[in-house]
Amino acid sequence: SSVVPFHGEHQAGIVTPAQDRLHFAAFNMVSGSSRDDLIQLLRDWSEAAERLTQGRPLGTGLEPGDALLPPDDTGEAEGLQAGNLTLTFGLGRSLFTGSGEGGSEDPYGIRSQLPAAFEPLPSFAFDLLEPAQSGGDLCVQACADDPQVAVHAIRNLARIAVGRTHLAWSQLGFGRTASTSRRQDTPRNLFGFKDGTMNVMSDETEALAEHVWVGDEAPAWLRGGSYIVTRKILMTIEAWDRASLAEQERTFGRTKLAGAPLTGGGEFDHPDFAAERDGAPVIDMAAHVRLAHPDQNGGTRILRRGYNYVDGSNELGQLGAGLFFISFQRDPAAFVRLQRSLKHDLLGEYIRHISSGLWAVPGGVRRGEFVGQRLFD
Ligand code: HEM
Repeated sequence: SSVVPFHGEHQAGIVTPAQDRLHFAAFNMVSGSSRDDLIQLLRDWSEAAERLTQGRPLGTGLEPGDALLPPDDTGEAEGLQAGNLTLTFGLGRSLFTGSGEGGSEDPYGIRSQLPAAFEPLPSFAFDLLEPAQSGGDLCVQACADDPQVAVHAIRNLARIAVGRTHLAWSQLGFGRTASTSRRQDTPRNLFGFKDGTMNVMSDETEALAEHVWVGDEAPAWLRGGSYIVTRKILMTIEAWDRASLAEQERTFGRTKLAGAPLTGGGEFDHPDFAAERDGAPVIDMAAHVRLAHPDQNGGTRILRRGYNYVDGSNELGQLGAGLFFISFQRDPAAFVRLQRSLKHDLLGEYIRHISSGLWAVPGGVRRGEFVGQRLFD
């Protein structure tokens, strides 16, 4: 079982080859907590993250010297090893502006460090957002090969945080829907299509610098970091499963089995958006890959790193299933631009966005430092 280092130039869990499992969690600060509480929380979380990602138990482990105290580590990851666990931390806009009306406070004395690009996401056509499952002062993305390792990490981070921050909502995911490395086969989403073919890959150094890592435009604490967007997207899969193969392929503009553009070639060949057959475009004008393509969006690219989810089923026998979409980008405006382009997406008939989140992901953590440390310099 492998270890992904917690320390580095960038936080892990962004270009790290996507693991199979996700536990994503959003936290809200306990009102009245201070700047020192926030600093201590980030310090404690960073220390714990280093141990957790190495597959080592927290504190004195499962059996403290004193049997009258609860164990420092909850124990369920004992014997499971590190499982490529990554913990990626993000800070919400409300941490800088307060969550009160108008967001005009400065509870932690960091408002002057708010980057200009860190604007709230606007609302989009067809949003059906559930506020109790959206946003948050902080987020932690836990990815691992073993679901119990990811859940153990979130559970213990929540436990350590007691009195300072509390879990607002969380989401489990499986079957990564994106590859971030050509060494990985392209996985499939719950519509049965290959997802992640044209993603920004971890070896595209120049594209990462241009589209994913924040540069000199931002305050020092965010350089080498990114912005994470999450969108829980419900799929009406029963309707999808009754759609013909031709309709499914028209929706994406790609073939189902090979994931190749409808204009021919293999999975990684470039779609020919100008191609016509009988006077009509071969790739529909509203096909997902046309509308999301960089050529239609002034060169905009994002790094997608989402997961499938199934939250059981409802009383009508329909699966509560979909895509927990995650993307990393240098500027939230990149996501906004793409999502606005998708307004007329054929896919729109089969999906609903039910939760949304945006956090700034500080640059990598150096040994002996804690995540976001330079915010408090
Ligand atoms: C491409 C599925 C939502 C952005 C694709 C592809 C599939 C897909 C199958 C083609 C293969 C690939 O290149 O990865 C889905 C599904 C969604 C969804 C099932 C919702 C349930 C979104 C959203 C965005 C987005 C919300 C961003 C706002 C993109 C981009 C591409 C893409 C940028 C690559 C386009 C290209 O360069 O060819 N998606 N997607 N997708 N999608 Fe989505």
